[in-house]
Amino acid sequence: MIRSIRSGAPLRGTIPCPGDKSISHRYAMLAALARGRSELRHFAGSQDCQSTLRCLRGLGVEVETRDTSVFITGDGLFGLKTPSAMLDAGNSGTTMRLLSGILAGQLFPAVLTGDASLSRRPMGRIMAPLRLMGARIGSGDGGFPPLSIHGGALRAIRYSLPVASAQVKSCVLLAGLYADGMTAVEEKVATRDHTEIALRHFGGVVRQRGNWIEVEPGPSLEARQLDIPGDLSGAAFFIAAAALVPGSEMLLPQVGLNSRRRALIDYLKEAGVKLSVENESHSAGEARGDLRVICDPSALDERLPPVQGELTAALIDEIPILAVYASQAGGLDIRDASELRIKESDRIAAIAANLRAMGAVVEEQSDGLAIPGRQRLRGAEIETHGDHRIAMAFSVAGLVAAGETRIHGAECADVSFPGFYEILARARAIHP
Ligand code: S3P
Repeated sequence: MIRSIRSGAPLRGTIPCPGDKSISHRYAMLAALARGRSELRHFAGSQDCQSTLRCLRGLGVEVETRDTSVFITGDGLFGLKTPSAMLDAGNSGTTMRLLSGILAGQLFPAVLTGDASLSRRPMGRIMAPLRLMGARIGSGDGGFPPLSIHGGALRAIRYSLPVASAQVKSCVLLAGLYADGMTAVEEKVATRDHTEIALRHFGGVVRQRGNWIEVEPGPSLEARQLDIPGDLSGAAFFIAAAALVPGSEMLLPQVGLNSRRRALIDYLKEAGVKLSVENESHSAGEARGDLRVICDPSALDERLPPVQGELTAALIDEIPILAVYASQAGGLDIRDASELRIKESDRIAAIAANLRAMGAVVEEQSDGLAIPGRQRLRGAEIETHGDHRIAMAFSVAGLVAAGETRIHGAECADVSFPGFYEILARARAIHP
């Protein structure tokens, strides 16, 4: 599907953000391993989280949805059933990598597949630690999906993560629930800690000792009633849009503000964006609050500090939209971002090619991008490569480009933000 975007009206009003994708995946999986019926409110309607629910159903878990609530009935750590077919993770790396950790501890074999994009993403990073724990795992050539997992009794390991990845960390911690002792994972660069927080909340024992995270095996997890905050990585597109389009003022209610996820807010505030956090609160160990963004064109004159090292890891999902923002503001150097080449698409290449198609100058490096600021964009044909964050980032670019921008394969936005284009159109139709 092609979506056409033109510059013009400011964005106003209240933007309803879908439930946080990372948290939704984790709550669903843990609810499936808990005893009893959990209620997960404001569960992400994103295709990725629906993939997790589909896989859980394939494992015999009772999953019921009502509006934006999901009810999951689990039967304990060993309550999953032998799947009668392959488990399809769709486009979702989180589904495949986290579920692999759980499947490694089961007493039955299972096969996990995914779509064309997921089938090109490396799984060696989870196969290595799971094999150390004793799981037998087969993959396609080169360590790509499909994965066939023959689980069983696992050995506890102490594992130092070779890449900064919350998915790999979470995979090992979940497998650790089935190990013969305490499993520990070291992360030298902090990544999102939703798994640790959620596991504790469902009744697991997880300790942080310096850079090491330890998990006790064999907990009896209990069903919970939980409210999922809005997805900051989805909100990011509207924050940037409102910061860029003169006359915009928007409220994004109840967005997740976990300290390992909120780097974008602190970064943009430091860069002069008029962004405030109101009504901050905590629920189940996760912070949330209302975000208000007001366009202040003078912020666009500010230089943007380089995104590198730990900051790159903290902003990893926000880099496509930051790149677009930076091309209109003070320019930006992005480094240490080679992980971006193995996301849903090669995001470094996709950002560079699409910014160039819009008439911008960009320098592409093996692990980053150098983007000069204050560039005029013109409407162009945008190739999304089926990548939701590229589709949404360049929809925002279209809001400030001269002429028409056409987003090819626009429907991939549903992977994380169903209704994105409709909400964008509505925000632009509100007049002060
Ligand atoms: C995620 C972790 C990140 C992120 C992805 C979601 C998660 O991936 O890019 O969108 O929910 O754990 P990596 O762990 O591969 O960095």
